[in-house]
Amino acid sequence: MATEPAGPIKSLQQLAAAEAGCTRCPLYRDATQAVPGEGPRRAAFMLVGEQPGDKEDIAGKPFVGPVGRVLDQALHDAGIAREDTFVTNAVKHFKHEMRGKRRLHKRPDNYEIERCKIWLDLERSLVKPATIVALGVTAARSLIGRTVTISKVRGQPFVMEDGTRLIVTVHPSALLRIEDEDERHAAYRSFVADLKAAVSANPQPTGTRGRASV
Ligand code: URA
Repeated sequence: MATEPAGPIKSLQQLAAAEAGCTRCPLYRDATQAVPGEGPRRAAFMLVGEQPGDKEDIAGKPFVGPVGRVLDQALHDAGIAREDTFVTNAVKHFKHEMRGKRRLHKRPDNYEIERCKIWLDLERSLVKPATIVALGVTAARSLIGRTVTISKVRGQPFVMEDGTRLIVTVHPSALLRIEDEDERHAAYRSFVADLKAAVSANPQPTGTRGRASV
């Protein structure tokens, strides 16, 4: 079990193996497994969510549950191929509390986000995306290093210290929580518009760059 990678990490497989042994914060204790990012090593476009949910924790893959279906639909409607995109989370283990037999999602705290940042940074350094989209407040906190109000920074491009463009938008789970149908559809359309704007301003095509090597 590790709190630091044992040696240099040169591939996404090595990174996933290191993440699997992570004990940097207590979240590993109650999770089934760490969920590494998924996608081509050379993706120009990276999406960062919050943390795996119940289904992702079991599958070991990001965004495969109900929220993942919303994300997939939005990517499709924005003309973005998910298989060309690197999809990951700010926190790699599922934080939850038991309510009867149900595992209820709990938002990671700043300490957990900070402890997990090493893995997101390593994903970024291997994939080197031209554009990152932060989905929601946890991803934005991890990538910007401070808590931001999504409505204030939404859609506004940031340039990160290594030159990567960063766009912040809402987390797709927020769309599922909107009860009013018209409001939900409007929020969905704005989310798709944010994704489209992020790719259209991308200095590189959304596809992969060069030969994919993992
Ligand atoms: N929500 C997230 O932020 N990430 C996932 O992988 C699934 C749901």
